[in-house]
Amino acid sequence: MFHWLEKNPFFFAVGVFVVIAYAGIVEILPDFAERARPVEGRKPYTVLQLAGRDVYIKDSCNACHSQLIRPFKSETDRYGMYSLSGEFAYDRPFLWGSKRTGPDLMRVGNYRTTDWHENHMLDPTSIVPGSIMPAYKHMFNNVADIETAYAEAYTVKKVFNVPYDQPDMPKLGTWDEAQKAVLEEAKPIVEAMKSQEVKEAYARGEIKEIVAIIAYLNSLK
Ligand code: HEC
Repeated sequence: MFHWLEKNPFFFAVGVFVVIAYAGIVEILPDFAERARPVEGRKPYTVLQLAGRDVYIKDSCNACHSQLIRPFKSETDRYGMYSLSGEFAYDRPFLWGSKRTGPDLMRVGNYRTTDWHENHMLDPTSIVPGSIMPAYKHMFNNVADIETAYAEAYTVKKVFNVPYDQPDMPKLGTWDEAQKAVLEEAKPIVEAMKSQEVKEAYARGEIKEIVAIIAYLNSLK
């Protein structure tokens, strides 16, 4: 029936284009129709959380962890409510992942705490015997890159109109204001931790990577 199409390179190319474009259109159209809205109550990441998210990407946590709960009973029983597309509205890039060597982390903030993460990141097997997750000791030494995180937030605010500085939304403000806000937000996390290095660094005005990534993990709900 479609032999004529196979013999006609021009129409064949058009046909291929239409088929492939369809998949793109299905993804793009909702954006134009303004249907891809954030779910209610969803807020953009704070600068500290963004810095933690950058560490998450840099250290390839997404190679072993997904952030996408599928609508199956086995998953919702374990991780909570399945994911909705509007929950990823402020995720750039999204971190759905394609492999679960470890558990999904989409809502890990609901059932793990700062001190749990501190011990686990330092030595996973001390918390979960037999864990094959690597230890991330360097996060206790490395200083988090707050400046880049601020630049990222500033960029998405300008380019994509991400609603920073609006009522009930995280404040971005100037670089000086943002630095103060980061220290303020980090304070309860540092206080809940036992690491002396982290506390001493904080007293000097330095935020270690571990503090930023815990802020990020705690925000995943
Ligand atoms: C080589 C694969 C691998 C990598 C890379 C990895 N993890 Fe894991 N992770 C695991 C496995 C396996 C578990 C389950 C055992 C455990 O809890 O230690 C786990 C468990 C966890 C848990 C506990 C989740 C729960 O529901 O109990 C958290 C939180 C976590 N990982 C965070 C991270 C973060 C943050 C990073 C990046 C800095 C990371 N992981 C990198 C394999 C990995």
